Amino acid sequence: MGIAARLREDIQTVFRKDPAARSVWEVLTYAGLWALLSHRVAHRLWRGGLKFPARFLSQATRFWTGIEIHPGARIGRRFFIDHGMGVVIGETAEIGDDVLMYHQVTLGGTSLEKVKRHPTIGNNVLIGMGAKVIGAITVGDNARVGANAVVTRDVPANSTAVGIPAKVVKQDGVYVRAVLDGAHGHPHVLAPAPARPAPARPAPAVMDSALNALDPQGEAIGRLLDEIEALRQRLAVLEAEHNFPHPASTGGPVSASPASEWHPHDIEAVV
Ligand SMILES: CC(C)(COP(=O)(O)OP(=O)(O)OC[C@H]1O[C@@H](n2cnc3c(N)ncnc32)[C@H](O)[C@@H]1OP(=O)(O)O)[C@@H](O)C(=O)NCCC(=O)NCCS
Repeated sequence: MGIAARLREDIQTVFRKDPAARSVWEVLTYAGLWALLSHRVAHRLWRGGLKFPARFLSQATRFWTGIEIHPGARIGRRFFIDHGMGVVIGETAEIGDDVLMYHQVTLGGTSLEKVKRHPTIGNNVLIGMGAKVIGAITVGDNARVGANAVVTRDVPANSTAVGIPAKVVKQDGVYVRAVLDGAHGHPHVLAPAPARPAPARPAPAVMDSALNALDPQGEAIGRLLDEIEALRQRLAVLEAEHNFPHPASTGGPVSASPASEWHPHDIEAVV
């Protein structure tokens, strides 16, 4: 594909992915577009063994656009970084085709070894603003990473991962509650019957829910607190029935109570 055709494709990509884009002249001012064009040159220099000029160009582009793409990173076609400021893409990162990324995204490494240490992003992936995707992990095709998520494990294809650390909340259009499984990227559903059909959303729903709150850990803690409260109440019933002094009134721990007065059947009867 020639340079002009590739540039035309890049500009069309911006029009497809940014509803705010109005004219070609306007698009030509986009930092994300210039960062991509500069990266293509830097990557060629890098692969040709001209490491210092490649690095110099990459750093100069960072100074100019606020977007730092290591010249070693491999990027597919129709990549678009919207807004751009604060984006960092590491040396061994690989990005597929049709990926959309917003400002302050990091594709970072977690190892200090000179090995593959940055993420591999599949085709048609969306990475929301501020998301941090770290380590030599894989984000599957058509996945969506929510704004401000911190992703440390593989994300399955066709899923949505949000939060810190990121959890899969949607898979193939169905809501789930899951923990990312580092070994295979398959979601492990925690709750017994949490699946519910996803409500129909208008086509460009990408940004609709960015401000919605979801806190799976908070939910789990809430459930634990409820369970502790229920156990407390059952214990109070037992203590009342068996005339047990409350540990606070005796000044000692529960185990100081006369064990001979207890039998496991007593508990089962109440529970
Ligand atoms: C994740 C995202 C892509 C939506 O994907 P989706 O598959 O359509 O997911 P939904 O909107 O159905 O949301 C699924 C659940 O995740 C929650 N969620 C969505 N985005 C979230 C986020 N960033 N952080 C935490 N929770 C989020 C939703 O509230 C919903 O929870 P619920 O089931 O309790 O209601 C979108 O919310 C997002 O973050 N987009 C990035 C937008 C952006 O960066 N814009 C920059 C513009 S400058």
